[in-house]
Amino acid sequence: MKLVAAPDRWTKSCAHDECTLHQLSPYIGKIKSSIAGELVKKYSRPGDLVVDPFAGAGTIPLESALQGRRAFGADISPYAKILSLAKLFPPRSLNDALEKAEVALAEAEALPSPDLRTVPVWVRQFFHPDTLREALNFAVIARQHGNEFLMACFLGILHHQRPGFLSYPSSHLVPYLRDKKYPREEFPEMYEYRALKPRLLAKVRRSFKRFISTENVDGEFTMGPVQQLELPARFDALITSPPYMNALDYGRDNRLRLWFIDQTRAERVDNDVTQRRQAFVDAISSLAHKVESGLRRRGYCVFVVGEELASRSESHPSEVVVTTFRSTAPSLRLKQVLTDNIPDIRRTRRECRGVKTEHFLVFQRN
Ligand SMILES: C[S@@+](CC[C@H](N)C(=O)[O-])C[C@H]1O[C@@H](n2cnc3c(N)ncnc32)[C@H](O)[C@@H]1O
Repeated sequence: MKLVAAPDRWTKSCAHDECTLHQLSPYIGKIKSSIAGELVKKYSRPGDLVVDPFAGAGTIPLESALQGRRAFGADISPYAKILSLAKLFPPRSLNDALEKAEVALAEAEALPSPDLRTVPVWVRQFFHPDTLREALNFAVIARQHGNEFLMACFLGILHHQRPGFLSYPSSHLVPYLRDKKYPREEFPEMYEYRALKPRLLAKVRRSFKRFISTENVDGEFTMGPVQQLELPARFDALITSPPYMNALDYGRDNRLRLWFIDQTRAERVDNDVTQRRQAFVDAISSLAHKVESGLRRRGYCVFVVGEELASRSESHPSEVVVTTFRSTAPSLRLKQVLTDNIPDIRRTRRECRGVKTEHFLVFQRN
């Protein structure tokens, strides 16, 4: 199959045009919302049920909802669950969101002060103790079902070096302290107490800057490994980007946010598929079975696959997808392969070691 270059417009940043719900909180390996939007538009129709079994930050489910499709998302990560639900079911308006935030903040304030000795040192080192106490109590309230939007806003301001964030100077995407670049003696203001309330309310406001309502969206999210996932009996399109093999570690790279979501699961998000080639093959094969039985006739199945610089002896991830679909989903035909180079300067996935190219594999059912 001939490789076709992706359109030039895909190189353009969409940060100033996209619905700001896309910017709730960063996610490694996130697809650009403009590209996700184009794929949804081209490969599904209004009212269709669009499935994304590796939903991550919920980019494809949100773009599906914004374009009047029904959305079914799934992912193994509890962080992905929070972000996907927050985007599919946000508060109705900014006022509604601010009201909910005020209530949650007041409930958190009424909780007893937590004992920081129960908090692991690696978490404590990111925060001023008073900020950490507020963050811990707020997380208790935000963890309650129905508060996913507030939890997503909270996670979005958890770590960074800018003043609107809660941590000591740290990177935003992956939590690394930047205390060498910003030593405490030279930048004492970066190590002061950072009140949660004004920062959270400002974050809520930013999230509604370009808000497009998806009220009454027909959406669903299931948390779990794709191998055990039950897809809807019939669906119209599957658009997804599987984990990047040998390139990302979704547990380690999201560890601080995962710890606030569920202290027992931080760093325990299953990375098998990312790290073991056979697990990747098994995951794709189990998905191919489900697509073969559930995708409607003439429906599309689109995979966005990050190509790692594999050793010469191994097949590339996109070859794994193509050969697995050929043997396991014989009613699907590979229609097109687009290839997109990801120059460092415009990668939303700058942390992807080795992943320089993405393949867009477009299958269609007979
Ligand atoms: C490339 S990311 C998806 C990014 C997503 N398209 C977005 O825009 O944010 C791949 C996702 O696969 C998930 N994942 C890894 N192993 C999985 C498994 N066995 N079952 C389901 N999801 C898995 C990761 O948690 C990660 O969110």
